Amino acid sequence: MATNPLDNKAQAWSALFSEPMSELVQRYTASVGFDRRLWRADIDGSLAHAEMLAAQQIIGAQDLADIRRGLAQIAQEIESGAFDWKLELEDVHLNIEARLTALVGDAGKRLHTGRSRNDQVATDVRLWLRTEIDGLQQLLAGLQRALVELAAQHTETVMPGFTHLQVAQPVSFAHHLLAYVEMFARDAERLADLRRRTNRLPLGAAALAGTGWPLDRERVARMLGFDDICRNSLDAVSDRDFALEFAAFASICMVHVSRLAEELVLWMSQAFGFIDLADRYCTGSSIMPQKRNPDVAELARGKTGRVVGHLTALLVLMKGQPLAYNKDNQEDKEPLFDSVDTLRDTLRILAEMVGGIVVKPDAMERAARRGYATATDLADYLSKRGLPFRDAHEVVAHAVKLALRQGVDLAELPPDALQALHPLIGADAAEALTLHGSMNARQVAGGTAPAQVRAQIEYHRSRLGPAAAPGAAAAGPHRG
Ligand code: ARG
Repeated sequence: MATNPLDNKAQAWSALFSEPMSELVQRYTASVGFDRRLWRADIDGSLAHAEMLAAQQIIGAQDLADIRRGLAQIAQEIESGAFDWKLELEDVHLNIEARLTALVGDAGKRLHTGRSRNDQVATDVRLWLRTEIDGLQQLLAGLQRALVELAAQHTETVMPGFTHLQVAQPVSFAHHLLAYVEMFARDAERLADLRRRTNRLPLGAAALAGTGWPLDRERVARMLGFDDICRNSLDAVSDRDFALEFAAFASICMVHVSRLAEELVLWMSQAFGFIDLADRYCTGSSIMPQKRNPDVAELARGKTGRVVGHLTALLVLMKGQPLAYNKDNQEDKEPLFDSVDTLRDTLRILAEMVGGIVVKPDAMERAARRGYATATDLADYLSKRGLPFRDAHEVVAHAVKLALRQGVDLAELPPDALQALHPLIGADAAEALTLHGSMNARQVAGGTAPAQVRAQIEYHRSRLGPAAAPGAAAAGPHRG
């Protein structure tokens, strides 16, 4: 068998190099410690490239057979943990290529014809991310389903709606939950949208300028399930805006997660007491025996920081890079990988946690009654009877003052005391001032009236469809 240039990294480049890298430089420049998780995408990309090379008669049928056999064995070795990853071979691409050549000889050395690691790595990352995107879509749908099903049990459960964290108007717990469903639905839209731009093929761009070999890029794109090819070779190897878009999506999604997590923490506090989280998502204190802390929700909130940090890291990474490929781009991987990992675990755990929420409707209703949440309803009542809204607002301020003095809710004011405030206040005003009366009145599209909320629940149920088979989520093939 011929010698393998990749056996010695200094020789991998060419005879041009007269001294080996120091150990520190080797460690500093190597990415195999983290980019090995791209291995399956790397092999899939190589298989498609090799098949195309054979179809274009650039390599022979025997070469293709050898490459397939070698890559199949390598996939097995990696899966079983037997593969010997070598730091000296820098990255996932050179590791796999060196092993392939060791296994099948010259055919392995022909695989890289018309290809550069520059278009290879861009292809690998896109393939890998595409699979992760599809897994995350499942998880986003799962979280939305969990929220919708919890909401379905609470269209009549009143809680205080807040502005400025002050009691504002009564809303149903279902309505509140569906606000988060809307946020996660938009996240899913964003994800689907950026998938289209991720799913384009860089291979064929070679190092930067394209190649003189008669490659069939469309064929490779079809084989790998890409929607299109990258049109400009310089752009194909150098830009990572698909990763930026993903990091932006992930950051926005984590910000939504964080807001929900924060509310879970608040609601579980003794001061609110709106919900309880299942024990399996809480931890105790090593010193205070009475404590049950919502650690999982707090961590979901906290992990938002690292994902937003990754977005910043990637933006700064790309800023100021001249065309085309620069080694800087190797730094795209860890932020991207960690964003995916963090988001995947967080979405999964949050969906489970939401499914296990114990709701305390009495505490919610008590809190709503404490803050004169129906004051706007009394103002609406008066203006419906002809009093200009600004004047009605003033009358109701007096009513609230009176109720405050007596230490009761508006609905509990004696009817004659209420009617004494303004001649337009009739005996039917009391009903408008109950929490349910207030909620039921908000029949506008998108409002909190139970009929409206039930319609939204049906909309989301039909949009989301039934849950996927267990285990189907995020079990994509490109996970190393
Ligand atoms: N490990 C490299 C990366 O992740 C692969 C591409 C290297 N290309 C190069 N010309 N040095 O970006």
